[in-house]
Amino acid sequence: MLIRIRKSHELRDADVTPETLYKSRREVLKTMGLATAGAIGGSVIAGEAFAARLSYKERAITADEPSTSHDAITGYNNFYEFGTDKSDPARYAGAMKTSPWSVRVEGECARPGAYTLEDILKPHALEERIYRLRCVEAWSMVIPWVGFPLGDLLKRFEPANNAKYIQFETLADRERMRGLSFPVLDWPYVEGLRMDEAMHPLAILAVGLYGEDLPNQNGAPLRLVVPWKYGYKSIKSIVAIRFVEKEPATSWNVSAPREYGFYSNVNPEVDHPRWSQATERRIGEFRRRPTLMFNGYGDEVSHLYANMDLRKFY
Ligand code: MTE
Repeated sequence: MLIRIRKSHELRDADVTPETLYKSRREVLKTMGLATAGAIGGSVIAGEAFAARLSYKERAITADEPSTSHDAITGYNNFYEFGTDKSDPARYAGAMKTSPWSVRVEGECARPGAYTLEDILKPHALEERIYRLRCVEAWSMVIPWVGFPLGDLLKRFEPANNAKYIQFETLADRERMRGLSFPVLDWPYVEGLRMDEAMHPLAILAVGLYGEDLPNQNGAPLRLVVPWKYGYKSIKSIVAIRFVEKEPATSWNVSAPREYGFYSNVNPEVDHPRWSQATERRIGEFRRRPTLMFNGYGDEVSHLYANMDLRKFY
């Protein structure tokens, strides 16, 4: 079955949440914002940042597919900094300290520096975007993320002409992340994108899901979502963004180069060396479904890879 995916700019009236629901969400978000500000001693840090959500737009990018349950999205996770079992992140990620939070911006750009989460969020209107997340172990979810386009943020740092790639880095807090005691990966977790991939409007930075703040296990307070790539590209709890000239190291490629390439585009025709990538199990469903090229976002993103041999650049 071919699922029709509406282009991001094709916003119909029916995509807009009914006003009553929208209003009640606004109330929830407002309360959350105030509550968060209160919790950090009356300063406006989070309160002001989350007030930006009051103008958030809602648009369904992946239409006609029901969202995976909140319980599954927040209870069945990969976040190896807290352990390798799918239940470890929900159990242990609560220990991570997400406030205050800042992101180091480094490398080939005119405005490097340390930016607080509030600096980062302030100018951006948040949008709800419903995207599939397809993990490499052949399971998938549909997640209503709250976020904003990554490219809009990157432009603010004024990338130099020789900034051809972006590298991202996750927090590595040995005291609070029990998984760092195990050499499963080279910590900190790092990921990367080519500049044009990073600038694509489907690539977002998420700060929430289901209209609420990102739970720690999903990568609070700021994580990448690249819906046409395998889930491991969607790096969590980002503390550094680096503009670089050469293809940067990525954790899974460093740990198992034969199994995980830099590009990591969802591709049913290229198997993982140890299993097929032709079908997937949508969490909450019994029957497996065929996996779609670029996770179903081919109309939007295939031009980024024109003339590339996707067997070679996997
Ligand atoms: N980011 C970090 N820092 N550490 C991780 O272990 N796992 C990745 C990705 N981002 C991971 C990470 C993998 S393999 C997947 S499938 C997704 O996060 C899972 O995201 P979710 O738990 O929000 O569904």
